[in-house]
Order: sequence, then C-alpha cells, then structure tokens
Amino acid sequence: MSQRPLGDMDPEAFRLEGHRIVDWLADYLAAPEPYPVLSRSKPGDLVRALPAAAPEDGEPFEAIFADFEQHVVPGLTHWNHPGFFAYFAISASGPGILAEMLSAGLNVQAMLWRTSPAATELEQVTLRWLAQLMELPSTFEGVIYDTASISTLHALAAARELVVPDVRARGMLARPDLPGVRVYCSEHTHSSIDKAVVLLGLGQQAIHRIPADHYHAMRADHLAEAIAADRRAGLRPLAVIASVGTTSSTAVDPVDAIADICEAEGVWLHVDAAYAGVMAMVPAWRDSFRGMERADSIVVNPHKWLFTPFDLSVLFCRRMDVLKQAFSLVAEYLRTTDPSAVTNLMDTGIQLGRRFRALKLWMVLRYFGAEGIRARLEAHVHLARTFASWIDDAPDWERLAPVPFSVVCFRHHPAGVEDEEMLERVNAAILERVNQSGEAFLSHTKLDGRYTLRLAIGNIKTEERHVRRAWELLSSAAKTA
Ligand SMILES: Cc1ncc(COP(=O)(O)O)c(C=O)c1O
Repeated sequence: MSQRPLGDMDPEAFRLEGHRIVDWLADYLAAPEPYPVLSRSKPGDLVRALPAAAPEDGEPFEAIFADFEQHVVPGLTHWNHPGFFAYFAISASGPGILAEMLSAGLNVQAMLWRTSPAATELEQVTLRWLAQLMELPSTFEGVIYDTASISTLHALAAARELVVPDVRARGMLARPDLPGVRVYCSEHTHSSIDKAVVLLGLGQQAIHRIPADHYHAMRADHLAEAIAADRRAGLRPLAVIASVGTTSSTAVDPVDAIADICEAEGVWLHVDAAYAGVMAMVPAWRDSFRGMERADSIVVNPHKWLFTPFDLSVLFCRRMDVLKQAFSLVAEYLRTTDPSAVTNLMDTGIQLGRRFRALKLWMVLRYFGAEGIRARLEAHVHLARTFASWIDDAPDWERLAPVPFSVVCFRHHPAGVEDEEMLERVNAAILERVNQSGEAFLSHTKLDGRYTLRLAIGNIKTEERHVRRAWELLSSAAKTA
C-alpha cells in the first residue's frame, strides 16, 4: 500500500519538479543538437525496457523522470531540432510551450461558453487577428480543431449538408433519391481528402482527380471540363479542394480561376493551405493566395509553420451557419440559460470537449508580433532558396520543382544515369545515410514518378549552418552511394 496521503501531488513537490522540468526543457531548447534528430530506436526497444504492468504503489517523480530520460527520450525523433527537414518542419516555440503548460494546469474545457467564457472568446479574438493578418474578409469565422485532416473533414461535412438534403436525419444509405456526388481535387492533394470522403459516406469513388500542370498545380480548364462531364452524367458536384502549398512540392493551385468555376457552378470551395497559409501574412506572397478570399472554407495549421506547439489547426469558414447546421446537437444536460448570442464551441464540430488551444496561438502571436513572424517566415524562404541555389549549381544534382515557399524538391542525378530505378536506389541510399547521421532528417516523395528528396525548412531554430551541414552530408553520402 502506498504511504502517500490521498489527493494530488504535494504542491511543494510540484513546484520542485516543475522547476526541474522547466530547467530541463530550457537546456533542451537551447541545444537540441546533441540528440540524434531521427531516433535510433529499434522496434520494441521501449516496450522491452518498461515493466509490463502499471505499478501498484506510486513511485517518486524523480524515478519516473529518470526513466523518461533513459528510455523515452532515446525513442523520440526530435521535431524541435534545427536539423529536422522532413515532411513539414515545425516548432514548439517558447511562448507556445509556456501556454501549453498553463492550458494543462488550468485544464479548462471549452465545450460551452459558460464552461470557460474566456477560452471561447480568446479563440474568437485570436482567430480574428489571424484572419486579419492573412487579409481574409470579415465574413470568415474561425474555429480551432486538432489537425488539418479534421478541419477538412468538417468543411466537407458542411458542403455535404448543402448538397444532400436531410442527410442528418436520413443518412446516405438506401436513398434512390440521391444523385452520385463528386469531390474535385488535384492528383497532388493531401490524402486527408480521401479519408474525409470515406468517413462522410461518399466513398473514394466520389473523388474526381484533376490533372496537374508541369509545376504540379491543378489545371483549372480540366476542372471545368470535369464538372461539365459529371453533370452530363447526372452527378452532382459537392466540393472542390484547391491547395496552396501541396504536401509533396508545395505547389499552388490557381485558386482565383478555380473560385470562378466554383462560383459559376455553385460548388463549395475548400482551400487547403495547411502548411503555406501563414505566408498570406507576408505582403510579398499575397499573390500566391489570390482567390482564397472567395473560398467557402480554408484550413491553415499554426502547428505547421506558425511556431505553435502541436496540435492546432484553424478552419476559417464563410458558412459557419451551415457548419453548425451539420453538427449542432444539444442534449438536455448541455442546455444553458446563457444568451443565444454566445458561441458554444460544441456546436461547431463532432467533439464535445475542447482543449484550450487558443491560448498558445494568442501567446505566440503576441510574443513574436506580426513583424517578427513575417521576418522568421521570410528567413526560412531565404534559406530554402539558398539551398536550392546550391542544388542548381552542383553538376550531379537536380531540382525537381519550383520553390514557392520553404521546401526544396531535388535529387542526385549523376551524369549519364537515366535509369529511374537506379536513381531511386541511389537517392534512397543517400537519404538513409544522411538520416542515420543524427544531424539532419529529410524525407522523400515521388513527383512525376521520380523518387524525390525533400528538404523542408520550418523550425524556428534552423539557421544557414544547419542547412549547410545537411548539404555537406548529402554531398558526402552521394560520393559513396
Ligand atoms: C497540404 C496538407 N493538408 C493537410 C495535411 C494534414 O495535416 P494534419 O496532420 O494537421 O492533419 C497536411 C499534412 O502535412 C498537408 O501537407
């Protein structure tokens, strides 16, 4: 039997351990480089290291923390490492981490306005700020979810609400009255669209993939033709997804031209700007976002490139009434006497309980300020362009896509080697070797069937020396691949 009294951790012990953890984090954030960015853990290492059953008696926090350091940390891939260049690089910045501590400490739950009025209203204030910074019209309202996949799912549920009458009451099954529906996106659109249509009962066959141009951007002329052909076949367009910053190459779909088509056809336009949307804050990049203000919904992920700890995704929607129509369901035990004008966040999605996520975005926006954020974003783009210039100048390397933001797509291509399988093997070997170094972590994709290395810049601590080191590692790996 534990000798500890009932109740929570002793407040003085909390203070002591809390200080210890903040010190540990401060050291970690000051110098994450000694940790290998990609974990060297082997499958099952942690499972084997830890007991198979939970302890019967409580343990001292010191012992738990020692195991965290000894067993858990080696099994972590360090997303907060300046040598993290895989997927989309992200950052948990200081103000965001501190906000997360407060949010965990307070443990407020913002399902209803009254269950924490400030959590609901801070979300409204912060998202209004973000919308203004991105120059979105005031007709957009925002709501925070965990991830872009969930934001997009909600956007498509709203689109379905408009197209499929009575879907809430009657569902989609055994409905001979329903025409087949179509969701349009490019061949480079993120797989979250597939998951959303599966979950919404539309089936993956509802997706009509529109070919892309040479730069991996959707062909608006093909979209218009596809919609016309589908209508002739008796199918009903449900939504179009345009991406500003596709996952593989950060290509930019022609949103303005796509918005023309959506307006003419009366089809919901969802813009996936999960990664690149924050660049709409930077005046010189506004052109890439032209037409986004005409969308019905937009997803942007501050947890990707806005220095906000994972997770926080924002859905901006011009039809919040439709979104609420799709999701609002008030059980008796959730009824309140609050004025009907208040926002109850439970009405805007599938989940009832909601974390206090707005706090971290609010603190990040205030701490760095719009100018500080813009400067950091532009510095990342500058680093990406610098790396791209090294690739362009190196004889045995080639770039495989433009660099509209902070991701470079490239490969090693020795003179005379044209066999795609051979090039894939060589580049996969280079990638493996660089990632084993522990100093840099890159990932890959395929573009036009070609195995492509990706260097994604987005960590707040990444400097030119880290990018240069990645280039040295790549060059030396290429010599032996
Ligand atoms: C363009 C795009 N959309 C959506 C997503 C899904 O993001 P999340 O992990 O927040 O669901 C990603 C992930 O990288 C993405 O690149």
